Amino acid sequence: MSAFPATRLRRLRRTASLRALVRETRLDLEGFVLPLFACEGEGVVRPLEGLPGIAQRSLDELVREVDSCAALGVPAILLFGVPDEKDDEGSGAWADDGIVQRALRELRGRHPGLVLVTDVCLCEYTAHGHCGVLAGGEIANDETLELLARTAVSHVEAGADAVAPSDMMDGRVGAIRGALDEAGHPTASILAYSAKYASAFYGPFREAAGSTPSFGDRRGYQMDPANVREALRECELDLGEGADVLMVKPALPNLDVIRAVRERFDAPLAAYNVSGEYAMVKAAAARGWLDERQAALECLTAIRRAGADVVISYWTKELAGWL
Ligand code: PBG
Repeated sequence: MSAFPATRLRRLRRTASLRALVRETRLDLEGFVLPLFACEGEGVVRPLEGLPGIAQRSLDELVREVDSCAALGVPAILLFGVPDEKDDEGSGAWADDGIVQRALRELRGRHPGLVLVTDVCLCEYTAHGHCGVLAGGEIANDETLELLARTAVSHVEAGADAVAPSDMMDGRVGAIRGALDEAGHPTASILAYSAKYASAFYGPFREAAGSTPSFGDRRGYQMDPANVREALRECELDLGEGADVLMVKPALPNLDVIRAVRERFDAPLAAYNVSGEYAMVKAAAARGWLDERQAALECLTAIRRAGADVVISYWTKELAGWL
């Protein structure tokens, strides 16, 4: 490369249109997924303190919200259920008349082209708030697999295009793939939360989903934030078990992990811009400490630049207005 003064990198920064012309990473709405929370009741819109702009919604309100998102061009949603009743096994997760199953049936009919993804996990449905069932005070891996598989099949049968297991049990992708195939759904896809870290940044989500563990924490199944080679092993195993899309979560503290996964594997890669990442910016913006739109676009661009094809973000609806 020739040196200054022949080379002046500021030349292409001179105007907005020159900068746009040579921009390396662009945001388009087509790669974004909006998380939504479905709860019981009617006419319920329960705003969430830690997730400004996001609410728990009963099915009638959820449908209205999805209608407005779809009209704005939001291409995909990720559904979470907030049930009224919980038990030790989390049986609400696979109930035929469960909150997510009913939401899916309603939405599938109204929005045939909208990508419907569901979070597959037990933590919103178990009384103890852990992502698997308990046996002898431990989160039992193998006993949980069948319940997750059942949940995934029930979501697909209610209309989900893709299921996203977020529990971090070993072998769950294979168990889900097997169960989907056996139930006659070989074309339903799996978006695996492959490298999901035990993160402090899920705080606001746990309020939203009512899924804070009643004892202990999730470090016995979610990944240690210090590890990146282990993330690659998780991804490799998930691909071997039939994952269609890999995911790294949270996104911003793990941009190096996103990059490493992108370089190692050719499968589509998603990153989850989680509740705490969103809440931090919202809280600072509310105090006038930063410009929300600019900060959000910078965060989302960084996640794409690191190598994510798909970004799951609470900003997706606002982004539709910004782009
Ligand atoms: C459920 C689940 C969690 C998130 C997505 N699925 C919480 C957790 O593992 O505690 C976090 C999403 C967010 O923070 O936005 N297992």
